[in-house]
Amino acid sequence: MNEPVHPPPNRPASATRLRLRHPRGETRIWVGEGALAPSLDALAGWIGERALFVLTTPRVWGLHGERLQTLFDRAAVTEVLEVEEGEAAKDLEVAGQLWDRMLAAGGKRDSRLLTFGGGSVGDLGGFVAGCFLRGIEYAQLPTTLLAQVDASLGGKTAVDRPGAKNCVGLFHHPEAVVCDTRLLATLPREELRAGLAEVVKMAALLDPDLLSRVERDLAVLLAGDAAALAPVVAASARAKIEVVEEDPEEADRRRVLNFGHTMGHALEAAAGFSALRHGEAVAYGMLFALRLARARDLAAELAPRLVRLLGRFDLPPLPPSLGREELIALIGRDKKARESGVAWVLPAKLGEAVIVNDISRNDVERQIAPFLAAPFLIE
Ligand SMILES: NC(=O)c1ccc[n+]([C@@H]2O[C@H](COP(=O)([O-])OP(=O)(O)OC[C@H]3O[C@@H](n4cnc5c(N)ncnc54)[C@H](O)[C@@H]3O)[C@@H](O)[C@H]2O)c1
Ligand SMILES: [Zn+2]
Repeated sequence: MNEPVHPPPNRPASATRLRLRHPRGETRIWVGEGALAPSLDALAGWIGERALFVLTTPRVWGLHGERLQTLFDRAAVTEVLEVEEGEAAKDLEVAGQLWDRMLAAGGKRDSRLLTFGGGSVGDLGGFVAGCFLRGIEYAQLPTTLLAQVDASLGGKTAVDRPGAKNCVGLFHHPEAVVCDTRLLATLPREELRAGLAEVVKMAALLDPDLLSRVERDLAVLLAGDAAALAPVVAASARAKIEVVEEDPEEADRRRVLNFGHTMGHALEAAAGFSALRHGEAVAYGMLFALRLARARDLAAELAPRLVRLLGRFDLPPLPPSLGREELIALIGRDKKARESGVAWVLPAKLGEAVIVNDISRNDVERQIAPFLAAPFLIE
C-alpha cells in the first residue's frame, strides 16, 4: 500500500445519510470523512452471498483496495476487474471483455457490481451493470472529487465512440453511493481542482451558502483536506439530488447542471480530450457563459464574483491551437443541442439560471475571440 499524502486523521469516521428517489426506486447515499467504514455493514448485507465484481483501476486498487476487504468475506465469488485509468476505459471493447469475464466467473442476474474509482470507472461500471443480463444491481464508491459531487449520482452511464463522448449509454441508478472524502487525500491537486469546478457550477446556481464556503475554504479544499471536503461534497450531493429527483431524465430542470458545459464540451473536444480535464474545460465554459450572460445584462454581481473565484483556481492556460471556427462547429454539434438549437444555461443571478435557445451564431462569434485572448477579462 502506498502511504497516504496526508497523515491518518485521528477524527472518528462520520457519514451523512442521504437518498435519491428515482422512478425505479432509490439510491442510498453515505457522504463524509471516513464514510466508507459506516457503510460497510449495509453494503455487505446487500451483497450477501452473491457473486461480487469490483471494477477499479490498478492505481486506485493499490492505494485504497484494502479498505474494501471486509466486503469479500461472505460473497460467493469475488472478482476484481481492473481497467485502464481515464477515458480510455469507457469503450465498448473493454465493456465486452468485462462481460466475458463476469460470465466466466459465474455472474448471474443477482450478482453485484461495485465501481471503485473516478467518474470514468463509474460511467463504465454503470453501463456494464446496466446491460449485463439486462441489468444487475450496482453501487458506486467514487474516489475522485468530480465523481463524488457529480458523476456517481443520477444514474447516467455511458461509454464513448471515436470522437463522440458518452454517446452510448443508459440511465441505470446505483443502489448505493458512498462518498468518503478520506479517499481524496491521494488525489492530485489538478483532479481536486477539476472536481471543484463542478462544485462551483452547482453552488452558483443552486446553493449560495456552498459558494461562500468554497470561497472561504478554497486553499484547504485544493489541498485535499478530508474534513473541509466533507460538507462541500454533502452540499453538492444535496443540490444534485434535488435537481435529479425533479427531472430524472433531463427533460428540463436537470439541464441547469449543464452550466459551463456547452463551451466546456467544445473545448474538450477541440483540445483532443487530453490537454484539458473535463472540470477544467467546464471552468472555462462557465467563463464563456458568463460573457453571454453579461451581454444580456444578466449576472451583474455574480459574474465578477465567479471570475475572481475561478481566477484563484490557477487553471492551466487554454491550448493555443484552439480555433474559433472549430469551436463554433463543435458547439452546434453538442449532444445537448436540440432541434430548436443550442440551449445555453446562463446564470441570471446567484442561485438562479435561465436556459436560452436564441443565442445566435453571431452572438457566439462576437464573444469567442476576446474569450480565447483573455478568458478572465469580462467587460
Ligand atoms: N455520469 C455522469 O453524470 C457524469 C458526470 C460528470 C462526469 N462524468 C464522467 O466522469 C469522467 C471523469 O471522471 P473523473 O474526473 O473522476 O476522472 P477519472 O475517472 O479519469 O479519474 C481521474 C484520475 O484520477 C485518478 N484517481 C482516481 N481516484 C484516485 C484517488 N483516490 N487517488 C489518486 N488518484 C485517483 C485516476 O486513476 C485518473 O488518473 C468523464 O468520463 C465524464 O464523462 C459523468
Ligand atoms: Zn461535468
